[in-house]
Amino acid sequence: DTELRKRIEFIIFGGTGDLSRNKLIPAILKLKDKIDLKKIYILGRNRKKFEEIKEKFKDFSELFVFVEFLAEREESYKNISSILGKESLKVFYLAVPPDLFKEILENVGKYLNFPEKRIVIEKPFGLSLKHAKDLNKIISVYFKEEEIFRIDHYLGKPQVQNILAFKFSNYVFSEVLNKCLVEKVEVIALEEVGVEGRKAYYEKVGVIRDMLQNHMLLLSSLIVMRLPPRAEDFHFELKNALKRAEFESESLILGKYKSYQGKAPTFALVKLHFDDERFTGVPFVLATGKKLKKKLTRVCIHFKNFPKEIERLLGCVPERNLLVFELYPEQEVSFRVNVISPLGFLRCTESINWRVSLKDVLGEIPEAYESLLLDVIRGDKTLFLDAEETEILWEKTEPLLKKEKEVLTYDDRVLIPEFAEDFISCL
Ligand code: BG6
Repeated sequence: DTELRKRIEFIIFGGTGDLSRNKLIPAILKLKDKIDLKKIYILGRNRKKFEEIKEKFKDFSELFVFVEFLAEREESYKNISSILGKESLKVFYLAVPPDLFKEILENVGKYLNFPEKRIVIEKPFGLSLKHAKDLNKIISVYFKEEEIFRIDHYLGKPQVQNILAFKFSNYVFSEVLNKCLVEKVEVIALEEVGVEGRKAYYEKVGVIRDMLQNHMLLLSSLIVMRLPPRAEDFHFELKNALKRAEFESESLILGKYKSYQGKAPTFALVKLHFDDERFTGVPFVLATGKKLKKKLTRVCIHFKNFPKEIERLLGCVPERNLLVFELYPEQEVSFRVNVISPLGFLRCTESINWRVSLKDVLGEIPEAYESLLLDVIRGDKTLFLDAEETEILWEKTEPLLKKEKEVLTYDDRVLIPEFAEDFISCL
């Protein structure tokens, strides 16, 4: 890989923020043995926070450079331009709230137009469809499409990719994932963490833009997505699935945890449908929220109930089959099957879970940001969104944003808010 032999400089806008500190910097440092890492420029306003970062990663403190940065000041960009090396490959990372993307992209385009560069833009890609369109336009003025990486880190998770590997290469599953046998799909991303130090960002986005619009909608679409005829058609088929998605805005339930001082909702539950002949009528129930009892991220595919004849024969209705892709805490696929019970043959069956842990197959599982950053350096855009995808995601989500809904309150640390209990069973 010739790209990997180049000297690399990371320039992180929003470098002192939570994302940078908790995910990006650790991922970059993990890549240290694979790439020739020259410097990590931490752009921000707060030198104290920078010193904390240096302290946290003290074994690598010589790699970090603090650059005082104000997005709206042109001098900031000129200053960065004068500091950066001439020969290196530059990775500009926009780890800032979406309302700053436009300004930063324009100024990077004007003042930091180095020949060898990549620009990574965090999700959500803008705050609305119109905003995303504007951003895509600006990008096309200043950058080559190959230089732009619109990231959604869920696509970098091996277990998310496994949804496709699993369903496309197991005949018994690819043939049954459809409306004839699937009763409903639950996509849940419950989190233990609250908004914490991200209030300024979070108040601008809220749970719909932070999780539903991107991670959750993409995860759901992967379940529905059809087999791409060639690897190059991955995004074509992903888009086909996304275009068929439709949120049932009436079903939206919003919540906010009691101790949160802000206004933005921190919990959302909503139904999603796909107008796809194999999935019409199958409800997808999406639920995500913060400050809950434990972190749990899963896609649960509930199969239909068994026909009456089986009940007559066995004297009971066997448990329904359930296929679960768990992303957290375990990274495993499990399938609930029914087998003979101690009562014997042709009697009520027992249900057990078959489990496959990704660890058994992959050994150590790389963090999404680590492998995605390596893709950025290599220039491999397979797992990044293109302009049209970012716009479809907004198109699909805008009806939810327009819906005026009361925001209910839930107690901190509950497993799931009471008002959502009836809709979610896969906990
Ligand atoms: C981020 C959101 O994109 O995803 C966060 O901004 C959220 O609010 C995070 O906590 C969850 O990601 P993961 O990988 O921990 O499931």
